[in-house]
Amino acid sequence: MINPDLLRQELQEKISLVSSLEELNQLKASVLGRKGQLTQYLRSLGELPLEQRKILGAQLNSLKVELESFFLARERELEEAMIREKLEKGRVDVTLPGIRPPLGRRHPLFQVWEEIEDAFLSLGFDIYEGPEVEWEYYNFGALNIPPDHPARDMWDTFYITDKMLLRTHTSPDQIRCMEEQRPPIKAIMPGLVYRHEAVDATHMDVFVQIEGLVVDKDTTFADLKGILELFVSLIFGPGRKTMFVPSYFPFTEPSAELLILWDDEKGHNAAGGKWLEVLGCGQVHPQVLRNVGLDPQVYSGFAFGLGVERIAMLKYNIPEIRLFMENDLRFLEQFG
Ligand code: DAH
Repeated sequence: MINPDLLRQELQEKISLVSSLEELNQLKASVLGRKGQLTQYLRSLGELPLEQRKILGAQLNSLKVELESFFLARERELEEAMIREKLEKGRVDVTLPGIRPPLGRRHPLFQVWEEIEDAFLSLGFDIYEGPEVEWEYYNFGALNIPPDHPARDMWDTFYITDKMLLRTHTSPDQIRCMEEQRPPIKAIMPGLVYRHEAVDATHMDVFVQIEGLVVDKDTTFADLKGILELFVSLIFGPGRKTMFVPSYFPFTEPSAELLILWDDEKGHNAAGGKWLEVLGCGQVHPQVLRNVGLDPQVYSGFAFGLGVERIAMLKYNIPEIRLFMENDLRFLEQFG
């Protein structure tokens, strides 16, 4: 025997438990659809005696109307809940931290390059620049390194033609500078240089040099030493240990090298107390002066050529020169 009140209760509960429109539609079809539970009951009324049919028929029909309104109400509820959820999800939380755009920064090598330039500018030097593709004459001949001279072995070279090459040092800019300007000259000449070199922790086949040149009537070797000492204290602060040792370059006489102890200010060192050569220098050779039409009886000068990577390695205790060219962000991001 069908009990409309129980049926109402049971269906009302089911409707309230439904959690999506899809489920609700399924439930609705299973109750009020063509083959739905209530539809079947209504159809089967015909089998009942008249009196019963009348009463139950009226009850079931009003139940049907009630259920329709229950379904409709639940449908509205679910729709509203969906809209609320969407709004909730799409809400912008203005208290959250923003997204920081990734900021670039200058390459550590260029930072040091600029620092060195600033140091020399503060000592009264001008900046002069020459080409990276250079005549063999400027790279070697004019610097007192004739063809077949064994000193050419010091610079393994990338040739472009017989007479043209990638400069192996910034020293050819000394020649260009002296050809263009008459003394007094006090200039630095920065730029990339290239060597056909076996690459290792302290050697690269492309690197940055800064050349220095002073030419005047009364320069001395003591001036050279004084300027280099000032330079070291400007870049590393006072008290950095340096060593000045004799050397050989065809374009200077006498020649020397400046070495710096590979220690940071706390006494930690990246290379076990090694001395790193950072520059070659010397008094400009009389023949070099003659090559640019200057009389060595009247003029004298001194010059130096320093490696920027090496200064950066010493300054930041970096044991590996190749890091400067690898573009590894883990390395680069350490330099503000
Ligand atoms: N050009 C030399 C080199 O690359 C370095 C050098 C040595 C430059 C002595 C100079 C100098 O100006 O006087 O190895």
